[in-house]
Amino acid sequence: MPLSRRSFLACAAGAAAIVPFARLLAQPKFARNPFSLGVASGYPSADGAAMWTRLAPDPLAGGGMPEAAVEVAWEIAADAGFRTIARSGKEMALPECAHSVHVDATGLKAGRVYFYRFHAGGATSPVGRFRTAPPADAGARRLALALASCQQYEQGHYAAYRHMAAEDLDLVVHVGDYIYESSWGRNHVRKHDTGETVTLEDYRNRYALYKSDPDLQVAHSAFPWLVTWDDHEVQNDYASDLSQFAAPREEFLARRAAAYRAYYEHMPLPKRMAPRGADMQIYARWDYGTLARLHVLDDRQYRDHQVCPRPERGSSSNVVSPASCPELLLPRRSLLGAEQERWLAGGLDSSAARWNVIAQQTVMAQVDRFPGEGQTFWTDGWDGYPAARARLLEHIAGKKVANPIVLGGDVHTFVVADLKTDFNDVRSPVVATEFVGTSIASQGISQKSIETWRAENPHIRYANSSRRGYTTLELTGKRCVARLRTVNEKDHASAVSTLAEWTVENGRPGAQRGA
Ligand SMILES: [Fe+2]
Repeated sequence: MPLSRRSFLACAAGAAAIVPFARLLAQPKFARNPFSLGVASGYPSADGAAMWTRLAPDPLAGGGMPEAAVEVAWEIAADAGFRTIARSGKEMALPECAHSVHVDATGLKAGRVYFYRFHAGGATSPVGRFRTAPPADAGARRLALALASCQQYEQGHYAAYRHMAAEDLDLVVHVGDYIYESSWGRNHVRKHDTGETVTLEDYRNRYALYKSDPDLQVAHSAFPWLVTWDDHEVQNDYASDLSQFAAPREEFLARRAAAYRAYYEHMPLPKRMAPRGADMQIYARWDYGTLARLHVLDDRQYRDHQVCPRPERGSSSNVVSPASCPELLLPRRSLLGAEQERWLAGGLDSSAARWNVIAQQTVMAQVDRFPGEGQTFWTDGWDGYPAARARLLEHIAGKKVANPIVLGGDVHTFVVADLKTDFNDVRSPVVATEFVGTSIASQGISQKSIETWRAENPHIRYANSSRRGYTTLELTGKRCVARLRTVNEKDHASAVSTLAEWTVENGRPGAQRGA
C-alpha cells in the first residue's frame, strides 16, 4: 500500500530532520487504547473541517508506537450512530509526526452537525462532533463561541471544560498557554511528571499529559476549535528568536522548532499550517457566513524584541515608564510583524461580516500598572508596542470596520474594556470592545493589582482576577452577549456559575453591563 503522499508532505514539511522512509505496519495490534488522547476538530468551513487524532497507546512516554507507519481510517456521519456516512477516507500515521493524524475533510453540507471517528488496528476512537459553517454569502441567526486560555495543569482541574462542553456552542477559541513549559504557582492539585520542556520529546510528552485530561478531551470532541498560541507553548515571554534568558539564537530557534512541531502534532489544524522548521503560520481568518469574521492572530513569532529589558534577562517582560524608556514609543515597533499587520488590515477591509472578532493573546487596552502620578507599562503585552496598537485601532476607526470585538487572554483575569485610539484622553471615542477571558486553571494576579488597574485606567470597565473559567460570546444580528463563566478549579467536580454578563449592541462599540 503506498504511503499517502499528502499526509507525508503535510507533516514532513515541518520536520527538521526527516527520519528514513517509514515502514508500514500491515496489521497493527495495540495492547492498550491507541486513542488515549481523544479526537478534535477545527476550522470548520461551509463544506468541511480539520480533524485530528494521535495514536498513543503509551501517551506519557513518547506514545508507545513502533517506528512504523500505521493506516488510520476516518469517517464522518450525519448521525451519532454512524448509520449515514457522509465521507470517509484513510490517512497514514507516521512516526516522524508522532503518529498524529490530520484530515482536511471536504464535501460536506453547510450549516450541518456532523459526527466523526477514527479506526486503527481494530480500535475505534471516541466520537467527535462539529457543525459546518454557513455558506460564505449567507446570513446566520447566531454564532455562539467560548473563549479559553491559560490552562496550567498543576494549578487546577479542567472543570471549566466539562461545563463548556455542555453549553450550546458552535466553536471554541483558544488564545494560548495551552501547555506550560515549566512548573510554577501555588496550591498544586496535580504535577507535571517531568521538568522544563526543551526537546521535541519533552514537548510531545507535555501535550500528552495535558491532553490526557478527560474534561479537556470532552471539550475538544464537543466542538471545533480555533487555536493560537502565546508564550508558554515555547517559553515564558519569548519574542520571535529571542529567549527569555538570551540563549544563543540558533539554540533557541531549535527549541522553538521542536515546540511548534509538537503543537501542530497535537492540535486540530489544517495541513497547510504544518510547520517548516522554526516557522509556522498560524494566523488565519475564519468566516461564519456574513454574521462574523474571526481574525486569529499570532503575537509571538514575528514580534520585535521587548524594550528596556532587565540586565540579567534577554528580552523578557518588564515594567517601564515611557520617560525612562523612550524606545517604547518608537513607531516602527511591531507586535505582529509588518506582514501580519498588512494581512490583518486587508482582512478587516475586505470583511462583509456584521461582527469582526479579533482573537489574540493578551490585553489590548492600555494598562497603567501603578497607582498615582505617571504611568508604567508591562512591555511583553500591547503596552510594549503602543505605536502598533494605535496603528491597528486607527485603522479600525478610519475604515469604520463593522462591530470590532477584541478577544484576549494571558493575564488570568476577566477584563471588559473600551478600546480607543488615545487611551490618555477620556473623551477619545470608543472604537472597539475588548473581552479578555480569565484562565481555565492558571492562578490569577492579586486583587490589589486589579484595583489599581480599575483606578488608573477609566477605559477598563470591569476587571476580576478572583475566579477561573471561560467566557461565552453569543453573536446575533442585533447584539453580542458575553457571559463570564466561573468554576472552582481546585475542585474537579466544581459547579459553574455566571459572574457577570455584558452586551455590545450592533453599531455601538463598548460593552454595557447586563444581558
Ligand atoms: Fe498564561
